[in-house]
Amino acid sequence: AHGRRFTAGLLHWNATANDRPMPWKGETDPYRIWLSEIILQQTRVEQGWGYYERFVAAFPTVQELAAAPEQSVFKLWEGLGYYSRCRNLIATARIITEQYGGVFPQQYDDILALKGVGPYTAAAIASFAYNAPYAVLDGNVFRVLSRIFGCALPIDSTEGRKFFAQAAQELLPVGEARAYNQALMDFGATVCKPLPACAACFFQHDCAAFRHGRQGELPVKAKK
Ligand code: ADE
Repeated sequence: AHGRRFTAGLLHWNATANDRPMPWKGETDPYRIWLSEIILQQTRVEQGWGYYERFVAAFPTVQELAAAPEQSVFKLWEGLGYYSRCRNLIATARIITEQYGGVFPQQYDDILALKGVGPYTAAAIASFAYNAPYAVLDGNVFRVLSRIFGCALPIDSTEGRKFFAQAAQELLPVGEARAYNQALMDFGATVCKPLPACAACFFQHDCAAFRHGRQGELPVKAKK
């Protein structure tokens, strides 16, 4: 597929066939998006769902999270593991409340500077909250792009990461970063899965991997 055709197709699929429900979808409050993204860093969507809802109910704003007794926050986090995430969550809520006047940072670089926030999470927050043009890059994106464009560069090589990062960014339609990033995640999670549902795929004959029967070989990983 050509780039613009892929992007247009993805947004069309998103608008007409993406029926994946998630409680943080469509949310534009940066605090709530940040919360969901921290939870989803090492937790599957199905497991994170209830935790997100309980956190938002207990702490509807960043100020309320910052003011909460630490033990009550850790109590809500129980079962999610990777407790450094929870420590960072509390520390960052307090920094935003005390040093940013309770206003979540809006610039990508400022978001990236928050404890526990890497490039993926910063791109997710910047795009979902502010529609800023930063492409997310994760396993879903590697899988979808490697197959659609038939790219066999290893995703765990410097060259491969560079290729997919650049492709994801070039394919992003400015002004629709929010929809594009969420569509890419959802398409990778529901259609272009590790074991893909090609028979029901919108792109089928526009997909390099499908046309060559190579969807099982992509993406390529150099190291085992
Ligand atoms: N994983 C990380 N962020 C996500 C999101 N917004 N939707 C689905 N899966 C995700």
